[in-house]
Amino acid sequence: MVQSFLPLPLWALLVTAASAKNYTCPNHLYSVQIFSEDPLIIYIPGFLTEYESHHLESVSAGRFTSSQIADQSGQQHLASTRTSRSTSLHSDEVSRCIEERALQFQGYDIPRTHLEPLQAVQYSLGEKYAPHTDWFTSPLQTSSEYGGNRLSSFFVYINTSDDIVGGGTQFPLLDAPNDERWCKFVNCDAGWEDGVTFRPISRNAVYWRNLRGGKSGKGRIGDRRTLHSGQPVQRGKKLGMNIWTREAELDGIYRSEAV
Ligand SMILES: *[C@@H]1O[C@H](CO)[C@@H](O)[C@H](O)[C@H]1NC(C)=O
Ligand SMILES: *[C@@H]1O[C@H](CO)[C@@H](O)[C@H](O)[C@H]1NC(C)=O
Repeated sequence: MVQSFLPLPLWALLVTAASAKNYTCPNHLYSVQIFSEDPLIIYIPGFLTEYESHHLESVSAGRFTSSQIADQSGQQHLASTRTSRSTSLHSDEVSRCIEERALQFQGYDIPRTHLEPLQAVQYSLGEKYAPHTDWFTSPLQTSSEYGGNRLSSFFVYINTSDDIVGGGTQFPLLDAPNDERWCKFVNCDAGWEDGVTFRPISRNAVYWRNLRGGKSGKGRIGDRRTLHSGQPVQRGKKLGMNIWTREAELDGIYRSEAV
């Protein structure tokens, strides 16, 4: 069952929103539901607190630039396939709290140094991200300075407008769920040939494992079933966040401390 969470009172937001310096990371309870065991996909209602959602929105405001994608040689490019705008978030008490939650979620054996900086992504009208995988095929993007490939992804809906149309996260190669209780999180009106589309619901997240095989790292391969897209936003807006965990430690210059 999905729990509901009491939002913070307004005064708490006003008092704390200005500064994250005295922020105490709460023992925040969220829910989890396994969507698929293979590939591993877990839906997480209430992953962010209301306060965190507000904070991420305010610290990312005005920092967005057009999202880029990396080509086979590792170079970053603008591309018509990714029209959203994104920004790496500065490390602060709130982002570290969220990172800690993302690490604990994955067990206790992943150090913080395996995390890429949190990346906020803003999708406005018509903006999208065409089908892609988060894992890379080029050795240049998975070299040891980058900590190898991307082991897992969280896509977190920081805040979406209530009237949003479109903007779902679609996995075309997954099978649609049979149980209609999933319909509050998944668009059940889509045809079976469209795979699975998670609805963009504020503060919820989708977690998935990008690589399969080889526990020690050797022999891990990208799981093509994790192909997904950010559907175009047809009405309203969507602010999201990527949390990417690499297989190993990233060089300091690629970690959030340096941003
Ligand atoms: C942080 O807490 C200290 C000690 O309680 C207090 O003196 C200070 O004013 C607080 N800073 C902010 C920005 O709230
Ligand atoms: C989400 O966005 C709406 C509309 O822009 C805004 O009114 C609301 O305060 C935001 N909520 C959070 C938690 O940031």
